Amino acid sequence: MKNLTLDNITAAAVDSFAGLPDARRRELVQVLVRHLHDYAREVRLSHAEWRAALGFLHRVGDISTPERSEFSLLSDVTGLSSQVDLLWSQAGATPGSNLGPFHAAGSPWRDNPADLIGDNAGTRVLLRSRVLDMQGQPLAGAEVDFWQNAADGLYWQQDPRQPTDNLRCRLRTAADGSFEIATIRPVPYQIPTDGPAYLELVQPAGRGSWRPAHYHLIVSMPGHRTLVTEVFDAEDTYLERDAVFGVREALVGRYADEHDPAAAQRLGLPGPTVPVMRMDFRLAQA
Ligand code: BEZ
Ligand code: FE
Repeated sequence: MKNLTLDNITAAAVDSFAGLPDARRRELVQVLVRHLHDYAREVRLSHAEWRAALGFLHRVGDISTPERSEFSLLSDVTGLSSQVDLLWSQAGATPGSNLGPFHAAGSPWRDNPADLIGDNAGTRVLLRSRVLDMQGQPLAGAEVDFWQNAADGLYWQQDPRQPTDNLRCRLRTAADGSFEIATIRPVPYQIPTDGPAYLELVQPAGRGSWRPAHYHLIVSMPGHRTLVTEVFDAEDTYLERDAVFGVREALVGRYADEHDPAAAQRLGLPGPTVPVMRMDFRLAQA
């Protein structure tokens, strides 16, 4: 019989997973168990606190559905999602940022330059970008998967008044690595505020529920690391307090009026200028 004490319980629990056949999975589980034990020891976790924590996780599970993952939101509001994004961002490459819950596979392909404005209300703008490698060379034919919210703050999946696939598309970069999207300026919006992640953690901490306005992009090219990122608006009031820690300096762009009568006409603007956000993306080698 092994006499389990405070001095050997952690090693016993860690060792009990030594039989996991996959080495990486073994590491993930064993290190997690070690950190959980360290945590309980450090804070001297009481029975009541331990039961409360389990109850919280139950409520996170209870409100989750295939369309709504409160666990993802919990990861987002604790900064864990962003931590993983930053861990896998390489120096010199464009940093990653939140995927969020509103990406869906199968976005419609559009020609580049793309026009997503359609019947959307809001300020008409252009996103002008290039996709480059780490040496600054253009990546032609890179895939860009783009999505954003509408003027009411909602993504098309959240809002039956928006047409299917509103304000999202896939396109390929041109020979010089460029792409252009005519769209409306995204607006700030709130993370879900009706579940335990917000009601029991974020709100009691006096934190806000808002995310600054942003575009979402997934940029991929064979031989390069796929980049999941966001582009923020330098004029947004929530830039300093993003509820999910997604903002990085390199991802903040500013709209500037550019003299472009042809583009102004295409966008239905009186012209001769159009508000343009310029943001390039650098992909790390795979
Ligand atoms: C989003 O950017 O779409 C998002 C990210 C985290 C939580 C909620 C929304
Ligand atoms: Fe978003």
